[in-house]
Amino acid sequence: PYAMASAYIIEAKAMFDAKSGKLIANPTVVIENNQIVEISSHGKAKYNKPAEKINLREHTLLPGLFDMHVHLTSDAHIHGYKRLQVTSPRAAITGVRNAQRTINAGFTSVRNLGAPGYADIALRDAIYAGDVIGPRVFAAGPSLGITGGHCDNNLLPHEIAIKAAGVADGPWAVRAKVRENIKFGADVIKFCATGGVLSKGTQVGAQQYAQEEMNALVAEAHLRGLTVAAHAHGTNGIKAAIRAGVDSIEHASFLDDEAIKLAKKHGTYLSMDIYNTEYILSEGQKAGILEESLDKERVVGAKQRNSFNRAVKANLNMVFGSDAGVYPHGENAKQFSRMVKFGMTPEQALQAATINAAKLLKQDQILGSIEVGKLADIIAIKGDPIADITLMEQVGFVLKDGKILKQ
Ligand code: ARG
Repeated sequence: PYAMASAYIIEAKAMFDAKSGKLIANPTVVIENNQIVEISSHGKAKYNKPAEKINLREHTLLPGLFDMHVHLTSDAHIHGYKRLQVTSPRAAITGVRNAQRTINAGFTSVRNLGAPGYADIALRDAIYAGDVIGPRVFAAGPSLGITGGHCDNNLLPHEIAIKAAGVADGPWAVRAKVRENIKFGADVIKFCATGGVLSKGTQVGAQQYAQEEMNALVAEAHLRGLTVAAHAHGTNGIKAAIRAGVDSIEHASFLDDEAIKLAKKHGTYLSMDIYNTEYILSEGQKAGILEESLDKERVVGAKQRNSFNRAVKANLNMVFGSDAGVYPHGENAKQFSRMVKFGMTPEQALQAATINAAKLLKQDQILGSIEVGKLADIIAIKGDPIADITLMEQVGFVLKDGKILKQ
């Protein structure tokens, strides 16, 4: 008649303390329902109610990972003109599969930065209702952008042109679009501040929304308590978005000294998808990525990695963001080794995917580190991922909200 509390006592070899960035040896972590209730280093837990023991004595425990830039409803094998055949309901079903792959890879929280037809919001709600297994989703709904910009759809000629749902021009139209996205369930606002690689006919380096539009957009979102993510490759667009007060810059490919200074001053987070370029250049053509996009990528990829290195050296706020959906979901963790290769310590890369991301989402009171009182989102890796960061690609155990989803 009474629901039994489900409790676990997890014994591990080590635990990554996301706040200090240090490994703690021989931890015992006690989970009751969906909460972490006790952590003891060395020695036994005091917990004396019935609980199931979990032996992870060869594993390192980490907080559930966050990917701050995904498109769960996108299929990496369908790009360019092929995408015109995909309806929003079909995309939502693709999202079901990708949500499962994402959680299996140890990512227990994601920010979904844009989906046509509010498919990401439908997916989020299905996950929260328990119909579908997947990560916590902080969903944007349709991305906002200018007519003909990166967040519009420019594949068809004017006689049969389509207009992406998030297109809005002018400060008041942009405010109205923010309100519309909130009305239909958005947790976060995404907009395009510059051109992009994968859109037809846009220049990556060129700013798109004008400063007044970005100012209005960010003010409206913040008024309503939502954070804002700006897609921005080009230097001027990055600066305008930071000046407008966005919470994160996505891609951040062409950083100059002033952009770095501005990001530092405003505490803006950078979410740089530095693995993505490898997939685009090797698999993109088969998937339907346009020739002009491949040309853009040949310039942007290398520039972005250089900017990443400078951002790390300048000690900017960085989060893990992969743009999975452009490349296959479930391979998110491949980016860790690139983040280390291009300047981060393994500890910094892990903090970018845990505590920093939780702070960006304003969820760090309940997520982002393994601490008493926080939600029970914990993963485990066999071995020591600090010594070998590629081990992050082999997650052996996933607990989300106190439920074991992979063992
Ligand atoms: N969605 C992004 C765009 O189209 C992908 C950029 C990928 N390239 C990169 N080097 N990160 O602009």
